[in-house]
Amino acid sequence: MAENKNEIVSGEVQGSEEEQAEFSLRPQTLDEYLGQKRVKKEMAVYIKAAKKRDEALDHVLLYGPPGLGKTTLAFVIANELGVHLKSTSGPAIEKAGDLVALLTDLNPGDILFIDEIHRLAKPIEEVLYSAMEDYYVDIVIGEGQTTHAVHVPLPPFTLVGATTLAGQLSAPLRGRFGIVEHLQYYTVDELEKIICRSSKVFNIDIEPQAAHELARRSRGTPRVANRLLRRVRDFAQVKGEEVISFATTKSSLQQLQVDDEGLNQTDRKILRVIIENYRGGPVGIRTLAANSGEDVETIQSLYEPYLMQNGFLLMTPRGRMVTEKAYVHLGLPLPNK
Ligand SMILES: Nc1ncnc2c1ncn2[C@@H]1O[C@H](COP(=O)(O)OP(=O)(O)OP(=O)(O)O)[C@@H](O)[C@H]1O
Ligand SMILES: [Mg+2]
Repeated sequence: MAENKNEIVSGEVQGSEEEQAEFSLRPQTLDEYLGQKRVKKEMAVYIKAAKKRDEALDHVLLYGPPGLGKTTLAFVIANELGVHLKSTSGPAIEKAGDLVALLTDLNPGDILFIDEIHRLAKPIEEVLYSAMEDYYVDIVIGEGQTTHAVHVPLPPFTLVGATTLAGQLSAPLRGRFGIVEHLQYYTVDELEKIICRSSKVFNIDIEPQAAHELARRSRGTPRVANRLLRRVRDFAQVKGEEVISFATTKSSLQQLQVDDEGLNQTDRKILRVIIENYRGGPVGIRTLAANSGEDVETIQSLYEPYLMQNGFLLMTPRGRMVTEKAYVHLGLPLPNK
């Protein structure tokens, strides 16, 4: 069961098939990057202006739920600027020296991409402040009596940070990003276009109605859309279908336990725990995590935002509460008021 869940929605578990598929499907240019119209429009202007001035682009913070295209967009920005991108992540930088090594290795105008930037250790975050603001770092060398600070100038560079939990970023760090972009869930139309593009890359045909059904049930998320497409392709190929049909799409989604609203087993489990253990809530996030067997961060970044956006869950000052829609969707009786 857990395996099935990871296959479909988790942003964290990545097998080699997943990585290869994501790599081959990743758009390279802003034109190929579908949806996110406002973000694209703004980024196009900032990129053009930076190129015209021959300066490094201002630092960019990208935030939003897993699988919406933050990493993809970071690479697209580098490509559009015609610069190199070095990629790392918050938890991967253990010592300030690791960060300094990455920074001093950049060419003017290059991008340093830090994924999961909300998980940077505090002392490392502090090194970033002067690097971002004035392109230098002060590092301490030696021990005891021979300790001295060294001032290291850096090339002008662009930091692109990505996070699923922008609320966990400290104010001083957040304030140093000149460009802050919030990625939104994709519309069904946009996901349909992404599915059609992916099926071309995979060299398979899909009935328009089938593409629409997949798009509708992909939690507004390109990564989920591409995963579902790959799974449905498996079912269709085993059946000997040349074109992925609507009927096969529907039956595969049922087998994968993705319901009519696009909710998966974990989404439903979270709602069910609140209803059955807490009479619909309110319940605190930690209690909810302990009772549903998911960690707090995964619930906050992956599950909750989608459930809230779609009216199944409400955030109140005293915790999470399910809505009437959740009872109806799960076929459970409403509580007596
Ligand atoms: N705008 C888009 N157009 C087309 N495909 C996209 C778009 N955004 C994302 N994708 C597809 O979705 C996949 C997942 O995107 P990506 O890895 O960039 O998400 P992410 O926001 O970085 O997720 P995470 O928070 O888990 O790191 C990509 O490999 C790509 O195939
Ligand atoms: Mg990413």
